[in-house]
Amino acid sequence: MPDADLLAHLRFLRSLGITHLPTSSAERPLPSEAPVDKQESSTPADKHTGTPTHQHTRTAEPPRALPVAEETDLFEQQRTAEVATLSPTERRARMEARAKELADCDRCKLCPARNHAANRLVYGAGNPEADIVFVGEGPGEEEDRQGIPFVGRAGELLTKIIGAMGLRRDDVYICNVVKHRAPGNRDPEADEIEACEPFLLEQLDLIQPRVLVTLGNCATKTLLRTKVGITRMRGTWQTYHGIPTMPTFHPAYVLRSYTRTNREAVWSDMKAVMAKVEGRSS
Ligand code: URA
Repeated sequence: MPDADLLAHLRFLRSLGITHLPTSSAERPLPSEAPVDKQESSTPADKHTGTPTHQHTRTAEPPRALPVAEETDLFEQQRTAEVATLSPTERRARMEARAKELADCDRCKLCPARNHAANRLVYGAGNPEADIVFVGEGPGEEEDRQGIPFVGRAGELLTKIIGAMGLRRDDVYICNVVKHRAPGNRDPEADEIEACEPFLLEQLDLIQPRVLVTLGNCATKTLLRTKVGITRMRGTWQTYHGIPTMPTFHPAYVLRSYTRTNREAVWSDMKAVMAKVEGRSS
């Protein structure tokens, strides 16, 4: 589409109140060298490490996420330029307004009326000017009840991890790929993720974090458009819409597989995150 048509189309979308666009959710071909995730094949029932879907030759090369779609670039430039003019108070107000607006959301089948009784939106929590944003998969039962992300058992561990980084929950921002609980804690489906991703993008745009941490397989695979499992992805810097992104294990997985190796892996990832935020690494 020529640039002028694209801009007109984007303006039209914006006039409908759509200010963020997800990149295509269509599966992209795997790079032929994409390594298979060891945990994926060894723990097929673990939703935070995933199930094996493909067989690929293992190589020593670090995993690479596939690039997000270029077609959103123009829109992103416009959007970022607009957000850059907002004061911190205006950014905070915009997030609060969006959270209120989404309370009535019916964009996907996870939305309140259709699925569960609590009708709770879990938009996000923490500092809207945080350097670090943690993104999980979706609210669980306790999060759904309280309307706050990561307040169940996995949340307690995440809070400890944040504490070990010398921070409080209020210093960082915590949210999820989808903002409503999936029935029976199943993985969110592609259409649900697609419906919610514009709002995650908007949050990130308003927060402008220096680093994003994706927690577990779902957040990592869906945001980074990769089929490479978390065991291979964790500890390697990736990029999500220009934001340096560190995939790490989901705290729920660490709780289930409470090994020294897993805890050390997460800690090593968080040290890399702190070094990046503090400008000790490029
Ligand atoms: N797991 C998630 O992925 N997100 C939450 O908010 C809680 C548990």
